[in-house]
Amino acid sequence: MHSPYPEGGCTDAGVRRLTHVPPAGLAAGVPDLRFTQPVDDDALKDWLHVHNVTIPAHELSLDDVRERARRHHLEVAYLGGVLVGCTTVRPPEDGTRTATVIARVLAEHRRQGIGTELHARGLFKAWELGAELIETVVLASNDSGLRFARKHGYVETERYVLPGETAEWIDMNLER
Ligand SMILES: CC(C)(COP(=O)(O)OP(=O)(O)OC[C@H]1O[C@@H](n2cnc3c(N)ncnc32)[C@H](O)[C@@H]1OP(=O)(O)O)[C@@H](O)C(=O)NCCC(=O)NCCS
Repeated sequence: MHSPYPEGGCTDAGVRRLTHVPPAGLAAGVPDLRFTQPVDDDALKDWLHVHNVTIPAHELSLDDVRERARRHHLEVAYLGGVLVGCTTVRPPEDGTRTATVIARVLAEHRRQGIGTELHARGLFKAWELGAELIETVVLASNDSGLRFARKHGYVETERYVLPGETAEWIDMNLER
């Protein structure tokens, strides 16, 4: 069963148990990359900007982000003080051990290892939160996102269109 909204979404169905989750900050090692958990409106707006630019098919409001910030672990990434990306980690809930990890990088800052670093931090946070199984969700039309997810060990589990939307989403589980 897929998520009621793609930004969160998690399921235990068909997921293999993780035996190892890489530690944070040991990925590409991009110099001057800094992270913050968005609490005040400025940081929440930065997270929102990256989300809405990278996932235009699912635009959120500031109130949506405030609500997610209470339930999810969100981070905003800055390179040399410039906004470059954000992450969502949805912790395991309802007795599951599945967390959702999503990394997003603004188009003009891609292909320099930032996505890899954000993803590694997300995995580490998910592990800290007790996850043993990891999933992500990618827009079917997003070639770079799909390539990134496959390269990092995710395997497609489900395709769907949310009620009232036209975009197709793909749920993927981390399998190695
Ligand atoms: C997926 C996404 C996060 C990748 O961000 P990114 O910062 O470009 O990721 P990376 O730089 O770590 O890796 C992307 C590519 O750049 C390459 N790369 C990394 N560092 C590099 C460098 N210094 N020089 C040249 N290429 C580099 C990687 O090898 C990878 O190559 P590939 O596409 O051939 O596999 C970004 O495209 C995005 O935000 N997409 C929309 C959201 C999404 O779909 N997220 C996926 C769910 S987790």
